[in-house]
Amino acid sequence: MTDLDALLALATDTAREAGELVRNRRDAVTRMRVTATKSTPTDIVTESDTAAEALIRDRLLSARPDDAVLGEEGGASAGESGIRWVVDPIDGTVNYLYGIPQYAVSIAAQQQDGDIVVGVVHNPVSRETWTAIRGGGAYLDGDRVHEAGCTELDLALVATGFGYDAARRQRQAAILAGILPSIRDIRRAGAASLDLCAVATGQVDAYYERGLAPWDLAAGGLIAEEAGAVVAGLRGAPAGSDLVIAAGPALFGALHDLLEPFRPDRDV
Ligand code: IPD
Repeated sequence: MTDLDALLALATDTAREAGELVRNRRDAVTRMRVTATKSTPTDIVTESDTAAEALIRDRLLSARPDDAVLGEEGGASAGESGIRWVVDPIDGTVNYLYGIPQYAVSIAAQQQDGDIVVGVVHNPVSRETWTAIRGGGAYLDGDRVHEAGCTELDLALVATGFGYDAARRQRQAAILAGILPSIRDIRRAGAASLDLCAVATGQVDAYYERGLAPWDLAAGGLIAEEAGAVVAGLRGAPAGSDLVIAAGPALFGALHDLLEPFRPDRDV
């Protein structure tokens, strides 16, 4: 039986240490060097992403050498323990590059059956840390948090995000234009893990996005769920790269039904 409290403590310490690293590096320069691009020229990796992921892998595997790791920058490494760490060293890399204080270190532990059992999201600038263990509630710096409880779609503040691919972005913008008249407003803060944590603390009423990678979703998705939100895709599909909708149970159905005709889970 895995000690989930021990996994949470390890993930929390590691996220905070990696957060110090990325914040200190950001303080040291005004504009980080972009070391590589990924899917498009605007999908960037900084030296800090690489250094932070190396630190995270080192700390996790020093403590638990038999675990597997899936990281945004370093890819997958195998392990025999049945636990896989899902790591985003800097979620919100573009905010990081521009010095916008809305980026996070995201670390989750996943069981062999695919269930995420532990999640930590840490904002190195505000030094806030959101945590959850499956079945144990969600916490911000040790205080229990809950989703906002919004019941009216037209009063809902909805966060979203856009992919890096131009054609996908065009479709995402069209969908946004379609739903905007029916909701209070939207927010595009630039870090999916923090958007999910914003659902968890009631800073927004809901969040949806197509195209998230596992490391964008893993920790924040558990935290939102443990704060009472429903985190799922369209028509009962699990949340994943096709689509993530996160909203309180009183709002989820209405947002789902508003989005569904626009086919937000497809690129064409
Ligand atoms: C991105 C951010 C952004 C979201 C994108 C993600 P990255 O992650 O979370 O808010 O809209 O879909 O790819 O590239 O900064 O790690």
